[in-house]
Amino acid sequence: MSCRSNLSSWQALEQSAANLKQQKLKSLFAQDDQRFDKFSCQIPGLLFDYSKQLIDEDAFSHLISLVEEVNLDAWRKKMFCGEKINFTEDRAVLHTALRNRSGSSVMVDGEDVMPAVQTELDKIKHFTEKVRSGEWTGYTSKAVKDIVAIGVGGSNLGPQMATEALKAHTDDKLNVHYVSNVDGVQLADVLNKVDPETSLFVISSKTFTTSETMTNANSAVKWFLNSAKSEAAIEKHFVAVSTNLQKTRAFGIADENVFTMWDWVGGRFSLWSAIGLPISLYLGFEVFSDILAGAYEIDEHFKNAPTSQNIPIIMALLSVWNTSFLGYKAQAILPYDQALHMLPAYLQQGEMESNGKSVAFDGRTVEYTTVPLIWGMTGINGQHAFYQYLHQGNNIVPADFIASVKPQKVVDKHHDILLSNFFAQTEAMMAGVDEQQVRKDLAEKGIAQEKVEQLIAHKIHQGNRPTTSMILDTVDAKAVGRLIALYEHKIFCQGILLEICSFDQWGVELGKGLASAIEAELTQDNVHHEHDSSTNGLIAYYKQRR
Ligand code: F6P
Repeated sequence: MSCRSNLSSWQALEQSAANLKQQKLKSLFAQDDQRFDKFSCQIPGLLFDYSKQLIDEDAFSHLISLVEEVNLDAWRKKMFCGEKINFTEDRAVLHTALRNRSGSSVMVDGEDVMPAVQTELDKIKHFTEKVRSGEWTGYTSKAVKDIVAIGVGGSNLGPQMATEALKAHTDDKLNVHYVSNVDGVQLADVLNKVDPETSLFVISSKTFTTSETMTNANSAVKWFLNSAKSEAAIEKHFVAVSTNLQKTRAFGIADENVFTMWDWVGGRFSLWSAIGLPISLYLGFEVFSDILAGAYEIDEHFKNAPTSQNIPIIMALLSVWNTSFLGYKAQAILPYDQALHMLPAYLQQGEMESNGKSVAFDGRTVEYTTVPLIWGMTGINGQHAFYQYLHQGNNIVPADFIASVKPQKVVDKHHDILLSNFFAQTEAMMAGVDEQQVRKDLAEKGIAQEKVEQLIAHKIHQGNRPTTSMILDTVDAKAVGRLIALYEHKIFCQGILLEICSFDQWGVELGKGLASAIEAELTQDNVHHEHDSSTNGLIAYYKQRR
């Protein structure tokens, strides 16, 4: 496997980056009135505009060559065909099989996984209908009113993000509450609001060993038994999503109430599996199914669109370009749509848990920065929090701006005001305000010359801050599916471009192991491990005062 920096496209890109760092985006727009047409594309339901990224045709052609040189096409085929591209865990990567609508088989270890996928989807559908119709009843024969979804990381973020994105579409049949934090405040808060007779707990954990989830699940059972008094009642109020039948049985959940997934579904890519059960219960199976349909559209686009029009590939290329070549080490995700307020948190796990690594496929340390730090919040709130940094800070942070043409709810002129901000911000970040303009503005306001000289440097905006704008038709189930799948494939492409194994998460395992050792020190007498003096001091401080 050749080192990426030895590739001719990589070297050409280093040269392009050196040239483009001297360029102003504003001038690139002034020189070419076709720039928007050249650097934007549309697919059903989405406009993708990357013309405000610091690229030119030359750099873009080298990026396309990089895709060819790393043989992305072969890797893409391997992923869709079920080859074990997660080689450190010896697993296939097949979240695409969960939304495969083509009717064709997908083989893993000589077996077609599609019948099992369909069986599980049918099970989700039937269970959803039973619960939502009131046919499924609790230990006092009452219908379910509240779903309490317990899980963490990929077993929480996807369903919760999609629920938040689509809650405007609820028919109000059920409420859903998510509990992910082992801080008991979150669970206590939810349990305060729900009634044990009408609550259904969905315990989502691929492994069924994750300490935070099992702690919350056990406390929920204890709370439930305080009222129900009989362990036999558990099966009517607790279901699980897991691959670990041994553990779900030990927990007291009947096998027929366990929804399965497979080791070829990574946690942060599991929303499409039964991990999405809370979405289906809350919004109905049709909505869940539409999310999958939206994602399948993107799978087809990703497989078939030419590289220069392939949105997830372009997203990955721009990320690599900004991070590894231009040296911008962070990226903001800025949804101008309240429904997408959890998208930054979701993508933090998606991108950073997947590609926040520094070792290449063959084990050597890579010589470039891999993925950026992902952060953000809804754009409007961000404007009043951290946009000062985006406009005038001395670190440049490329940003994805996401909005929709039609709001989920029309309230007077709110959406036009929201979108005015969306358009204004990307324009301002691109163009900035130069000295001449600042002088003109201050002169027009009649500001005294002495004051002008004092203000001038403070009011100049350098601009040249790269942004991508995505405009969805509206935030509905298909759009949510499309958006998530775009980012998923972007993450896969980034991994290939950067030679990073995107589908393991060894870095998370380290902290888990250390925490369980320290937990014994906090909860058992006479257990003491040697730590550094800081950790010893912190533990002692806590133990003395708790
Ligand atoms: O954060 C680490 C991680 O392993 C994620 O990848 C996963 O989504 C999460 O923990 C939860 O794991 P589980 O579903 O096994 O409880």
